[in-house]
Amino acid sequence: MNDAPEGWSEYWEKEGAGGEVFVNAQGEAHPALAEFWQAAFTSLAAGSRIIDIASGAGSVFAHLPGDHGHRLSASDISRTALESLAQRIPEVTTLVCSADDIPLDDASFDLVVTQFGVEYAGVAAFDEAARLVAPGGRFVGLCHYRDGYIDSDNRAQLGEARIVRERGFIDAAIVLAKAAFSGDEAQLKRAQDEFAVVATPVGEGMRRHRKGIHTYLFQGFRRLYEHRRQYDLADITGWLDAMRGELDKTIDRLERMCAAALSADDVAQVQRLFEARGLEDVHCTPFETPENQLPVAWKVTAHKEASHE
Ligand SMILES: C[S@@+](CC[C@H](N)C(=O)[O-])C[C@H]1O[C@@H](n2cnc3c(N)ncnc32)[C@H](O)[C@@H]1O
Repeated sequence: MNDAPEGWSEYWEKEGAGGEVFVNAQGEAHPALAEFWQAAFTSLAAGSRIIDIASGAGSVFAHLPGDHGHRLSASDISRTALESLAQRIPEVTTLVCSADDIPLDDASFDLVVTQFGVEYAGVAAFDEAARLVAPGGRFVGLCHYRDGYIDSDNRAQLGEARIVRERGFIDAAIVLAKAAFSGDEAQLKRAQDEFAVVATPVGEGMRRHRKGIHTYLFQGFRRLYEHRRQYDLADITGWLDAMRGELDKTIDRLERMCAAALSADDVAQVQRLFEARGLEDVHCTPFETPENQLPVAWKVTAHKEASHE
């Protein structure tokens, strides 16, 4: 499989390098997630087989106790993510594959987990997750929640990032930088006027929603421009050109995250898929954290009755 499917490997090399997707103000795994997964991992029989689907760099397994003694597997579409996981938790067997096509036998895990993962392969991929649950086993997942806390933030960031691209902020910034270095006053005045037209909506976007690549780009360029005497023109245009690629990748990733977020209808479909695979007590409920008014995720749990042969 290609090592850079859908930009995820790049993500895991850069922003995801810390290994966590939902963090507290210190950039650590969010305590509510830690508590959730620690609870999910209690009362497991020794030597349980556990798979984390779309595991990323292993943030779920990071919550296992040190002496767990379980047999761990992780799958993800990104080889880079799994390499990072293998460095953090070497005992995990890793598998590069899409969540909707996992080349493993039916009923081969006592616990199937996922955190902001399976849904990237579409709702139908939950059928594949359910297929892997062994009799007596469980499924436990936290999944993106449409219009929840993370999704709302993603949608806001996406909207602002699209404004940056559609308005041609980077092109206008390059024109302004070149004009400033040209020594031609008339050219500079024209470039300033043109830049003001595109910078205004980007600046307004920063006030609407601070977090995101639009703020990073706006402030980054402002700093470079204000201190331009310390730089060569090529330093500034080179940074802006590199940011063009970053902007495209960010928009692409945010679009995928937004597309992955599950609506109430989607989780009703997950429930039907699970039940069709013989899972019972299927619960899909909002996962709330004290500091966020909107749900952070769907909490999806189910189990499969033990066989009595
Ligand atoms: C938001 S990250 C979550 C990673 C990890 N579960 C965590 O909580 O840190 C989404 C993960 O899904 C993976 N992914 C995206 N599309 C996928 C697919 N079709 N099949 C399997 N994994 C996929 C990405 O590589 C990425 O690691």
